[in-house]
Amino acid sequence: MTIEQAAEIIKQGGIVAFPTETVYGLGADAWNSSAISKIYKIKGRAADNPLIVHLHEKKQIHGFCSNIPEHAHRLIDTFWPGPLTLVLKKRPEVLDAVTAGLDTVALRIPDHSIALDLIRRTGPLVAPSANRSGKPSPTKAEHVISDFGNACQVLDGNTTKIGLESTVIDLSEKEPIILRPGMIGREEISTLLGVSVKELSPNPIHSPKSPGQKYSHYAPDARVRWLLKNESPNDDSFLYLLQSRHSSKPNTICYNFDLEQLAKELYDRFRHADIQKYKEVVVEPLEEHHPLYAALNNRILKAIGN
Ligand code: TXA
Ligand code: MG
Repeated sequence: MTIEQAAEIIKQGGIVAFPTETVYGLGADAWNSSAISKIYKIKGRAADNPLIVHLHEKKQIHGFCSNIPEHAHRLIDTFWPGPLTLVLKKRPEVLDAVTAGLDTVALRIPDHSIALDLIRRTGPLVAPSANRSGKPSPTKAEHVISDFGNACQVLDGNTTKIGLESTVIDLSEKEPIILRPGMIGREEISTLLGVSVKELSPNPIHSPKSPGQKYSHYAPDARVRWLLKNESPNDDSFLYLLQSRHSSKPNTICYNFDLEQLAKELYDRFRHADIQKYKEVVVEPLEEHHPLYAALNNRILKAIGN
């Protein structure tokens, strides 16, 4: 499928999956409620879980928010286009289908030429990750096809660069708070803004601040757990993802502290674990001081089901 065809489908109220730098998104016109309802339906997504609006240029933000705080300007100037989503107070006309009835809206500009070209043609697009709810986010076109078959078309942009979803930061209240950790970390944001930014705990008790946090996510069918301290990889029906240890067994993948690579591959490994019928995915606990620690740990904890 070409970008022109994808744009045409969206303009006519359809949905199309497209690549971003984080994961593939399932796009629909942000101003078309019935198109957006198709996304909720096909994903099996809970109606109270709002969507991110994807823009292609900064000035489009004014169509969704009237009051843009200083912190937002700073983050936008530094990180857009890029894997950072801002939650801001919305304009009244922003559709409830987008925000799930909240008075805020989530926005980002993806750093991907196909996504930007598509949005330039269609206008702003809502796009959740293009997976069935509860499944790992798609980092390849084949993941989208495996979840949805013919039910949606996919623009193929090969493997996504980052592999984990964007950082989501809420700037709608006085104190900024990170609702979902990602590639752009708390330290980096705190330094830029000159304040110590908080991060929502990975397992909040149903916080209304981040509706997405309360649903189980990112999980393969195989059980996911941490590698124990003195455990050595042996069971062939288990897939081992190792950060620091080395093993030449075929069911072990050694990352040698390269957490960028683990982030890029994590969801693909989860999906392969199911295809190859592994019973468990066993992950070695991660290096805490790494900038990607919070994001990766958050996704793995979710897959474990904590
Ligand atoms: O990297 C990404 O962000 C990918 C790509 C496709 O852009 N998109 C993505 O969308 O991960 P989704 O729908 O899978 O996750 C969006 C997250 C959810 O946790 C949702 O609850 C949260 O953003 N969110 C959206 N709007 C919100 C709002 N107004 N207030 C608080 N959280 C919001
Ligand atoms: Mg998602």
